[in-house]
Amino acid sequence: MQINFVDLNKQYNLIKPEIDDAIQRVIKNSSFIGGEEVNAFEEEFARYCDANYCAGVNSGTDALKFICMALEIKEGDEVILPVNTFIATALAVSSMGAIPVFVDCEDDTFNIDTEKIEEKITSRTKAIIAVHLYGQSAEMDSILSIAQRHKIYVIEDACQAHGAFYKNRRVGTFAIASAFSFYPGKNLGAYGDGGAVITNDACITEKIKKLREYGQEEKYVHTERGTNSRLDGLQAAILRVKLKYLDAWNEKRKNMAACYYDSFKELQIKLPETRADRNHVFHLFVIETDNRDELLQFLKQKGIYCGIHYPVPLHFQGVYSELGYKAGDFPVSETSASRILSLPIYPELKEEEINRIKNAFNEFGFNKRHWRSLSAFDSQSPFFCRG
Ligand SMILES: Cc1ncc(COP(=O)(O)O)c(C=O)c1O
Repeated sequence: MQINFVDLNKQYNLIKPEIDDAIQRVIKNSSFIGGEEVNAFEEEFARYCDANYCAGVNSGTDALKFICMALEIKEGDEVILPVNTFIATALAVSSMGAIPVFVDCEDDTFNIDTEKIEEKITSRTKAIIAVHLYGQSAEMDSILSIAQRHKIYVIEDACQAHGAFYKNRRVGTFAIASAFSFYPGKNLGAYGDGGAVITNDACITEKIKKLREYGQEEKYVHTERGTNSRLDGLQAAILRVKLKYLDAWNEKRKNMAACYYDSFKELQIKLPETRADRNHVFHLFVIETDNRDELLQFLKQKGIYCGIHYPVPLHFQGVYSELGYKAGDFPVSETSASRILSLPIYPELKEEEINRIKNAFNEFGFNKRHWRSLSAFDSQSPFFCRG
């Protein structure tokens, strides 16, 4: 039996009656666009995040774009963000005509290295995007104090961190506005694209609600260069069902991560670091190893499917070649890109499946590395040995 990287069917089967009811409700009311499901979800998600407002939109990418538009980030402005995030963080910035300015990550949490932010600030810097990568909050106190000192905005990209905490407060409530994605594989995922902006600012909410609906003030009165980017009724109804389970599901992810920590503690692989002042929700469980590609293939042969988040740091993406970065500019992200591996982690994963993953790791032969130097242990080496 195959262990998929994500298995949404298993989740659906566990909550099928509630999901089916929610879908039927929307169809019966024909509330496909806007309507009570969207309003109710916005209220419930804002309450969940402990924020004043939520505006549902079509994707996390649009949530980020709309925040940039609401903050009037424009051509020539610079926005600081980590180089090892999903491309959408940067695309939101460059779609404004603004310049994404990359910063390397910490080598243990993979979140932005706050020690390296200030050297990138110029008179054109308008904002810092704090990405809570893999489900763990970035170091918000440092980011907020840098931003305050330089009078620039902080935006949170919480697309991978639904329900995570930083110092007893949910992510999404530290910045002027925060973006969430409800892409199906997220900790809170829809059955299609979806996203939201969370904020305590009434003006930003009002502006985003106009932008998502053709920039209209009222029907056929258009005051903004908006677009069509709404969270639809079916997705909102599905998300309302799933939101009730989010904390319990996040707790299961944490337990699963604890199993991985326990299973791998004797092996010479680098395990993800969780800072003591944060509650990691393990959207991804990312390990680091120097023979990643072989391990990936080995696991695949065993029917265990993994991912890589992300194989190419943003400064090496063709779309950003014009920014003039070069190899060596972001050593931590560049090195980790060839070493990281994301293991299956989702609430429905069974104990026997985790055990199968654990056994496959043992079979791969990491233990041997206790008595071999790292450099001798590669696939080219005559010393290479696999369990
Ligand atoms: C960190 C991050 N930012 C932004 C996005 C974009 O979200 P969406 O796919 O909903 O547009 C994602 C989605 O994968 C993400 O992981």
